[in-house]
Amino acid sequence: MNQASHSPVGFFDSGMGGISVLREAVRQLPHENFIYFGDSYNAPYGIKSHEEVLQLSKKATSLLLRQGAKAIVIACNTATGAAANTLRRIYPQLPIIGIEPAVKPAVLRHPGGRIVVMATPRALQEEKLLRLLAQFDDKAEVFRLPCGGLMEFVERGELDGNRLNRYLHQRFDPLFDRPVDAVVLGCTHYPFLKKAIAKVAGPQAEIIDGNAGTVRELKRRLQCENLLSDSDQPGQVIFQNSSPDPAYIARSEMLFHLPE
Ligand code: DGL
Repeated sequence: MNQASHSPVGFFDSGMGGISVLREAVRQLPHENFIYFGDSYNAPYGIKSHEEVLQLSKKATSLLLRQGAKAIVIACNTATGAAANTLRRIYPQLPIIGIEPAVKPAVLRHPGGRIVVMATPRALQEEKLLRLLAQFDDKAEVFRLPCGGLMEFVERGELDGNRLNRYLHQRFDPLFDRPVDAVVLGCTHYPFLKKAIAKVAGPQAEIIDGNAGTVRELKRRLQCENLLSDSDQPGQVIFQNSSPDPAYIARSEMLFHLPE
């Protein structure tokens, strides 16, 4: 048996959004152990500078490595944009899996269509995302929709209701002179708001997140490095949070077990 195979996979995010990726990971990799670190104390990352997000991402990664993580999933589009390249340079042997908005699948499914990419203001300014968007410039009408203030709804556990609806209408209504074909959820918090977003975007809009692809990539990397767990028992999931308020762990468990 490979010693490392029972070590946990470390996940981090600015808060609880990355739990949407973790849920998919547990579905695809039920025998793995996971440690999930939510940096809610320092959230949101989406309105911080590139340098601040980079430093926080380095800290989160070393916290997970000190606990024996065999791979790191940056379960945050904002942190992936700001830190993935640097972290890969610092830890060249470590599998580091990032997440980026699923713009490519959206354009392939809706060529020439109107596609809205919802993400944090920081993520939408990162070089990495700008380069990705530029590739599809002439293949669809792609709108960038910065959603500062939206992740906070998930952090509060507020997944529906009037206040959320008002927020979404304010953002979406100016785009609705013609129907939107797809909405890309470019922040890992947003899949928890999928029902509310779908209502505002309209029945014709396909809502797309990149979680399944990210986890397929994690699986592929673990396989390549011979790091997949060989246990036949269900793996363990441990939640950690930088906030001293224990309510964050309770809310993390709630989001993790939320029915689809
Ligand atoms: N969950 C993070 C992402 O995927 C961002 C939330 C934040 O602003 O901290 O981009």
